[in-house]
Amino acid sequence: MVDKSGSNHRVRYNFSITKLLFWSLIFLGLIVFFFFRSPPSPSPSRRVLRGGVDWENSVRQSGLSRSKGKRVLVTGAAGFVGTHVSIALKRRGDGVVGIDNFNSYYDPSLKRARNDLLRREGIFVVEGDINNAPLLRKLFELVKFTHVMHLAAQAGVRYAMKNPASYVHSNIAGLVNVLEVCKSANPQPSIVWASSSSVYGLNSKVPFSEKDRTDQPASLYAATKKAGEEIAHTYNHIYGLSITGLRFFTVYGPWGRPDMAYFFFTKDILKGKKITIFEGPNHKSVARDFTYIDDIVKGCLGALDTAGKSTGSGGKKKGAAQLRVFNLGNTSPVQVSKLVSILEKLLKVKAKKQVLAMPRNGDVLFTHANISYAQSEFGYKPTTDLQTGLKKFVKWYMEYYSSSKGKKSAW
Ligand SMILES: NC(=O)c1ccc[n+]([C@@H]2O[C@H](COP(=O)([O-])OP(=O)(O)OC[C@H]3O[C@@H](n4cnc5c(N)ncnc54)[C@H](O)[C@@H]3O)[C@@H](O)[C@H]2O)c1
Ligand SMILES: *[C@@H]1O[C@H](CO)[C@@H](O)[C@H](O)[C@H]1NC(C)=O
Repeated sequence: MVDKSGSNHRVRYNFSITKLLFWSLIFLGLIVFFFFRSPPSPSPSRRVLRGGVDWENSVRQSGLSRSKGKRVLVTGAAGFVGTHVSIALKRRGDGVVGIDNFNSYYDPSLKRARNDLLRREGIFVVEGDINNAPLLRKLFELVKFTHVMHLAAQAGVRYAMKNPASYVHSNIAGLVNVLEVCKSANPQPSIVWASSSSVYGLNSKVPFSEKDRTDQPASLYAATKKAGEEIAHTYNHIYGLSITGLRFFTVYGPWGRPDMAYFFFTKDILKGKKITIFEGPNHKSVARDFTYIDDIVKGCLGALDTAGKSTGSGGKKKGAAQLRVFNLGNTSPVQVSKLVSILEKLLKVKAKKQVLAMPRNGDVLFTHANISYAQSEFGYKPTTDLQTGLKKFVKWYMEYYSSSKGKKSAW
């Protein structure tokens, strides 16, 4: 009797070990798959060939600058900031080629609509992933880029818990790939790229200054941006690449990102849906240093125009090159409840609010930028307050989503 039940136990025991082993292997396999798959399908050469002569001509044409203009590769060009920066560069006479993989982190039809806007401005956006090295090298063959404005990334703080691999893929592997291609290009371009205010993490000293500690990220997103800043240091040190990191503070405006609060609050208030406002411990309110897109664009151009030349060539360093990090914020934090009351007035609809304790999923309570460094280096001076900026956002939102095209995708 006893023996029987004992062996029975053993069988069950063995069985669960096998099961455990099986699942561990599957799990390991998945990890290996996510970290070492590069470049992602479809095969890069086919993608380049698929473009053919017309494709190459479109890239060359788009990269042409007026005399003395820069030639800029903008990654994440179909994104919110990328679209605005690309248009500003093109309008002043720089050559601009975009690259974007049009991923579906948020409604890709918004990215396609931004792309239509870019096409009308004479800007060609290559559809591809920044991890695709042969594709990037091809672009450098077709256009001698003087600058790279690297804005492609997996953004968003909360989504990192759902899809951590996407952050590693775009913000770490993708960044390294961009820098690898830049380092080997001849001449090497100067690089300006988007870090984030989220690197300040649990830092509580305000306002946030560039020299403050950034070793306590509160989300995987923040950790990948912090890693990016360290990776930038390495490529500057070893290869003489000129690199400028920009720590954006909560950027908002027309053509903005649907995953951000000001955007989905607007959508939900109009629909009569309840919105959730988070508060900190002891009912402390959450505040953000909201920065209007036009001010960010001015900061991006200022950083680009003051970027020093990279010193290396043929993948070899020739001398010390510039390495900088700037805050780009508005320096006036606004409570989220104030954001909601401004939206209520603009939309002429009362919001249905529920207040909840902020979950510990990576968001911080408060952000406030010290911008004196950017101010002294390139005269950065934000001029749009939240009320004025939101008015422009709401105007765009109403127009965009009342057209038949927007309606289909948003509602
Ligand atoms: N908007 C903000 O408030 C804010 C704040 C801090 C930092 N940033 C940073 O600024 C940059 C631009 O942000 P945004 O608000 O315009 O975001 P966005 O998501 O609208 O733009 C990023 C674009 O990059 C593309 N992309 C992502 N991964 C890619 C890949 N592997 N290959 C090619 N393209 C890829 C996306 O399709 C998207 O169009 C990002 O690096 C972001 O992390 C933004
Ligand atoms: C802002 O940053 C500058 C350095 O760029 C520093 O000298 C100054 O003390 C900071 N101001 C505050 C209020 O922290």
